[in-house]
Amino acid sequence: MRKLIAGTLRLVKPDFRIEADPAAAAAELLTAASGHVCLTGGSTPRRAYERAAELRSNWSGVDVWFTDERCVPPDHEHSNFRMAAAALLLDAEGVAVHRMQGELGPDAGAAAYERDYQAAGRPAFEMILLGLGPDAHICSLFPGDDALGERERPVVGVDTPGMAPIVARITLTLPVVNGSERIVFLITGEDKADAVARAFSGRRDPMAPASLVEGEVTVLLDEAAARRL
Ligand code: 6PG
Repeated sequence: MRKLIAGTLRLVKPDFRIEADPAAAAAELLTAASGHVCLTGGSTPRRAYERAAELRSNWSGVDVWFTDERCVPPDHEHSNFRMAAAALLLDAEGVAVHRMQGELGPDAGAAAYERDYQAAGRPAFEMILLGLGPDAHICSLFPGDDALGERERPVVGVDTPGMAPIVARITLTLPVVNGSERIVFLITGEDKADAVARAFSGRRDPMAPASLVEGEVTVLLDEAAARRL
């Protein structure tokens, strides 16, 4: 993996918003967005997507992308697309959905998504929603993984993820994340408190991938996740 300079300081401090209901706050931001919007997977955002569906029915003019996907069919229990479709996308009139084709496998799936992204003109996302793993990973960019050091390709495959579900992945790369106009983290629960502390210490560390995220960053979190801030 290309050597990343650990220890250098993050240039701009994030905007931390400790919320009683971070998912509702994320839903507000999502429903206000237009253009190209990127959704994270995992379990935390489900409620935000459900709330966004309650708040907005017409999503014309919005292109929805994904931060990452597990290499499973779209109807599989581990599919990020399946979660987002059930919570929001099936009810979102007029939305244009750019699904990562996990069923193609990591390399072919990444290549297919790269073609889709190129065909759309490599858009900067108006908003990208990120989760945070307990190991401070984002997307499917895991600590110390080669994918984290990728600076040319916008999308890559990950054969061996650092966390469950242990299935190959497709993931956006860091330059695409950091190229977003607005980056919003949605983080809840005590089990994320240590990762939050490592992610937002101010020091860049490839063993805490979230610490490499830079730009207009808003962090929505509950008291439990913020405990060690
Ligand atoms: C995924 C996500 C991943 C997620 C974190 C947090 O495919 O799992 O994209 O980056 O945001 O793992 O997941 P939870 O919200 O389930 O804790």
